[in-house]
Amino acid sequence: MIKADGKVFFLNTKSTTYAFRVMETGQLEHMYYGRLINCDEPSVLIEKRAFAPGNTITYDDAHQDLTLEDVRLELSAIGKGDLREPMLEVVCADGSTSLDFVYDSYEVIQGKPEFKTLPSSYDETGKVETLNVTMKDKNHGFTLILSYSVFEECDVITRSAKFINTSEESVRLTRMLSMLMDYDHPGMKITSFHGGWTREMNKSDIVLPAGKFVNSSFTGTSSNRCNPLFMISEPDSCEESGDVWGFNLLYSGNHYSATEVSSFKKTRVVYGINPQNFAWDLAAGEEFEAPEAVLTYSAAGFRQMSLNMHDFVREHITRGPWKKKERPVLINSWEASYFDFTESSLLKLAKTAKNAGVELFVMDDGWFGDRNDDHRALGDWDIVNKKKLPGGLEGLSKKVNDLGLMFGLWVEPEMINVDSELYRKHPDWAIDIPGMDHSEGRFQRLLDLCNPEVVDYMIDRMSEVFSTPGLAYIKWDMNRNFSDYYSKYLPADKQFEVSHRYVLGFYRLLKTLAERFPEILMEGCASGGNRFDLGVLCYYPQIWASDNTDAVSRLAIQDGYSYGYPQSTYTAHVSACPNHQTLRVTPLESRFAVASFGVLGYELNLNDMKSEDIAAVKAQIELYKQYRKTLQFGDFYRHKADNIYQWSIVDKDKSTSVSMLMQREIVAGDQYLKINMAGLDQKTKYHFFGRKLEYNVKGFGDLVNTVSPIHIKQDSLVHNLVAKFVKMPGEIEDYVAYGDTLNSNGVKLVQSFVGTGFNEEVRYFPDFGARLYFVEKAE
Ligand code: DGJ
Repeated sequence: MIKADGKVFFLNTKSTTYAFRVMETGQLEHMYYGRLINCDEPSVLIEKRAFAPGNTITYDDAHQDLTLEDVRLELSAIGKGDLREPMLEVVCADGSTSLDFVYDSYEVIQGKPEFKTLPSSYDETGKVETLNVTMKDKNHGFTLILSYSVFEECDVITRSAKFINTSEESVRLTRMLSMLMDYDHPGMKITSFHGGWTREMNKSDIVLPAGKFVNSSFTGTSSNRCNPLFMISEPDSCEESGDVWGFNLLYSGNHYSATEVSSFKKTRVVYGINPQNFAWDLAAGEEFEAPEAVLTYSAAGFRQMSLNMHDFVREHITRGPWKKKERPVLINSWEASYFDFTESSLLKLAKTAKNAGVELFVMDDGWFGDRNDDHRALGDWDIVNKKKLPGGLEGLSKKVNDLGLMFGLWVEPEMINVDSELYRKHPDWAIDIPGMDHSEGRFQRLLDLCNPEVVDYMIDRMSEVFSTPGLAYIKWDMNRNFSDYYSKYLPADKQFEVSHRYVLGFYRLLKTLAERFPEILMEGCASGGNRFDLGVLCYYPQIWASDNTDAVSRLAIQDGYSYGYPQSTYTAHVSACPNHQTLRVTPLESRFAVASFGVLGYELNLNDMKSEDIAAVKAQIELYKQYRKTLQFGDFYRHKADNIYQWSIVDKDKSTSVSMLMQREIVAGDQYLKINMAGLDQKTKYHFFGRKLEYNVKGFGDLVNTVSPIHIKQDSLVHNLVAKFVKMPGEIEDYVAYGDTLNSNGVKLVQSFVGTGFNEEVRYFPDFGARLYFVEKAE
């Protein structure tokens, strides 16, 4: 609910309040963002000022008590005494850079308006309200509209800003961020997510007593170097308690957030498009939209912050027919055969996959032009490789469909290889600087999406590909970071606009295709998670989280995503061992346990697996389908994340829950383990149970001799023979308990093997061991 009177603004959600006011001088003073309050006396929220401290700039002659450097603001530019990170910077026609935005007017509208140039959140509940506050620049007459949309149900407020050049002359924006907000104290903790290829979303915490912390990307994408998602919290906040503010951005290009502690010990947050290598010229009458920033506050720690974000993403970001539809279990050809396949090898894989219960077959890279490696053919989407696929895409699609599988395809529409027919025809369509050496990235260049002709061409090409009869899924890849920023389409004085114009072109391409082919399930990918953000999630509901399919690496990666993104948005595959990225060997069941906490797929040559492993895969898929709705769309809880990771997911109606735990490294003698749970109905009685599995006797090495009547040499023929027929029984866990007990205590599990006896009451739990547990209403 929005309460506004032109002087004071209260934005209330179910459990939070965001408040600011208009100061006597016209600036917007931030008053409060925290627990829901019922405040009819704003003066208690406002800092009192009788004088400005020495060595500060006072706002004007009439206000010697006011220095903007020490006010909590909603917006700030440079030049009027605020020395902290500004929200915007401009160069005016007269060369001056000072702006002085003061309050002009406001409006409250029902609903969530769409952005004109960028993806935006939306509302179907009819409960969202939007506040637009118009600010006018006293110096040049520019207009800035600050927008606040209030999503009551999920405790989210989104912010954005639009700059309108209402002056008579042109202006150059050199920084145009989406939001600015000030806290009244220092020493807050910033949690952000860093990494690179195959190591996305590594969580990092830093307490900021002074100075600045910047979380930004410059890859041209939202990047695997550091995701736009970040959190600010009181340093003693933890998973279940404490004040936590979450931030995210609907933008897929270079982003920037800076957290700055001022010399007056206030903490400022600014957030938006990265100003590095950015400028945007606006002629009189033109406007610029900054991307939408998402804010949520939780008084109950990181868990509630994540639940808010998840609900928001599920309800107000992802859209279209696949928004709430259960996602199919897929097999992807990439790690199964890379570029080396034929139609018959693919069909052989598809057939085995179908028998194991897979629902969607995806042909990854290598199906077009002369693409037998990653050096050539990107751009040649109209030239299907007939040596590999004699019947073309249509032929393969039909045969895959005839097997009873959906058919899916990999594309990388934004790229071009120099060795391609497209480049030979249109060298001017690649981003590179004429006459200069180009830096390389996977032997490919970016297509110049600043050029509308290129976008139109790619819409046409992709429309042809997407029209393949029987095509049900697209994996949209993007494997190159930006270098040599330059568009041959733009004049010299517009080159600073390249990175943002590229993003706008990309969104037009993606949006047109998503609208033209709504039934196709689209999955994003950028070398894994190099473009995992809320902007692209407006068009594709799921993203390939990482090229790293190693179950141990995936623990931290998926745990990282879970802070801001629901599990229906990140995909996870069971792959071969030794793992192709880490060479680590992990149990098949552990790979499944971790992957089933994302959208499950398989990416390995099933035909090379032992029959007992194929049988295990079949059982996994059957089980996954049984709990898929819960796993993909339930509420996600993190419990522990260190050596042993624990996650649980509870159905929205609280009837079912699935939990997972996985150990990275065995700690000798650690025998007692408890699985934690949360989110169950306190008063309902539940049945808790584990999977009944069997283990390979070879996992116990030559300990087999402690029970064998004859001596067995390890790895000998006899050992292998015994292993074939004798299985070690897995432990049984089966209990009934009330939700309050499971929520508060979890379940104390049977002992782990610690070097002494082993039977059905002991858990075989070596390095990388994992378990899945299920909870169902008992009554
Ligand atoms: C990078 C992706 O992340 C992989 O999954 C795979 O699709 C390759 N590209 C194909 O070139």
